[in-house]
Amino acid sequence: MAGIYIHIPFCKKLCFYCDFYHVVSHDDNSAFIEALLKEISHRKDYLGSESVSTIYIGGGTPSVFSATDLETIMNHIKKLFYVAEDCEITIELNPDDVNAVYLNDLKKININRISLGIQSWLDSDLKMLNRRHDSAQAVKALNDTLNAGFKNVTIDLIYGIPGMSLQQWESNLDFSFSFDIKHLSAYHLTFEKGTVFGKMLEKGDISEIDEDDSAAQFNLLIEKSESLGFIQYEISNFGKPGYFSIHNSNYWKQVNYLGLGPSAHSFNGYSRQWNIRDLKGYIKSVNAGKSYSESEELNIKTRFNEYIMTSLRTMWGIDLEYVEGMFEKEGYDYVLNLSGKFRNYGLMKLEKNSLVLTNQGKLISDNIISEFMMPDDE
Ligand SMILES: C[S@@+](CC[C@H](N)C(=O)[O-])C[C@H]1O[C@@H](n2cnc3c(N)ncnc32)[C@H](O)[C@@H]1O
Ligand code: SF4
Repeated sequence: MAGIYIHIPFCKKLCFYCDFYHVVSHDDNSAFIEALLKEISHRKDYLGSESVSTIYIGGGTPSVFSATDLETIMNHIKKLFYVAEDCEITIELNPDDVNAVYLNDLKKININRISLGIQSWLDSDLKMLNRRHDSAQAVKALNDTLNAGFKNVTIDLIYGIPGMSLQQWESNLDFSFSFDIKHLSAYHLTFEKGTVFGKMLEKGDISEIDEDDSAAQFNLLIEKSESLGFIQYEISNFGKPGYFSIHNSNYWKQVNYLGLGPSAHSFNGYSRQWNIRDLKGYIKSVNAGKSYSESEELNIKTRFNEYIMTSLRTMWGIDLEYVEGMFEKEGYDYVLNLSGKFRNYGLMKLEKNSLVLTNQGKLISDNIISEFMMPDDE
């Protein structure tokens, strides 16, 4: 079981918060597609004979591509990899790119999971975030997606937006759940260095919402989604049973994956590669048959840290049996001893031989995770 991620690095407009690699471009995409097809060929052996259970087309904005271009990419992958019959195939769509014809074409090329970047149902938020779409387009996009017959539909929302009240967040959630969605990814706004918001924060032109408001919005998110049968299987991800994202779950379960396109990461159990974050450089290097990625062999400590970082964010938590098998008695003792204080504070609990965060612990997950990290020189 393995995964493939494809990064489409084009966006039509710059969202003020976004640090995902993208270029704002209306140019011809053919040089990129040509390079991507070459990269797929170069890396056809990366996953060996493993069957591919998930393909994720993300970005940037994959919906800037026509269904025909996407079909060319998918066909090339299917030719060179062992794609499972029931493979989960997700695409991220921006609401203003969506229409019935496009959705139907995506169905024809076997895309079976749609991720819609709604972000907020409020025009004032969308404006502030510098999104391309407005709320009317978002409503139409979600209705079109459901009417096209897609069963596995997820939306992205952002909370913790400056100026957003608890009532506004509540109505955003209520309105989202009034649709037949099976999954929700809800992210707290982060101010990334180098983004427009990041720069505004440095200059004091914008401020983060206060911690109590943040906590109240997070708690409401958990309460509402759980009362409606959604399970918080990862800090930012909520799914109905049977609809957890296979793609995301694979990342958290240390399953191998191949990342294609600029800035994409790959992982094969022993090493991690990351492609350069530069479209022109990527195209040039792929065409010249040169290296376009860097690689890091993972030592036991980096593997330990990665395991903790990913597993602790999920409902499955740190599996102590796995830790003992993988990192021996030393790793097991380290984790169990360190967890003591967090368990005493009610931030973590031991459930069926796994250490999981309580709701209170999830609020400060980044701090808890960083305490578990083993320094490389130890
Ligand atoms: C790869 S991005 C975008 C997908 C698609 N292009 C779109 O904009 O709808 C995936 C999601 O990450 C979230 N995201 C990106 N940057 C964020 C930030 N700084 N803070 C919170 N959420 C963020 C957004 O919800 C976004 O939809
Ligand atoms: S959030 Fe999506 S559309 Fe906006 S800049 Fe990032 S990748 Fe592009």
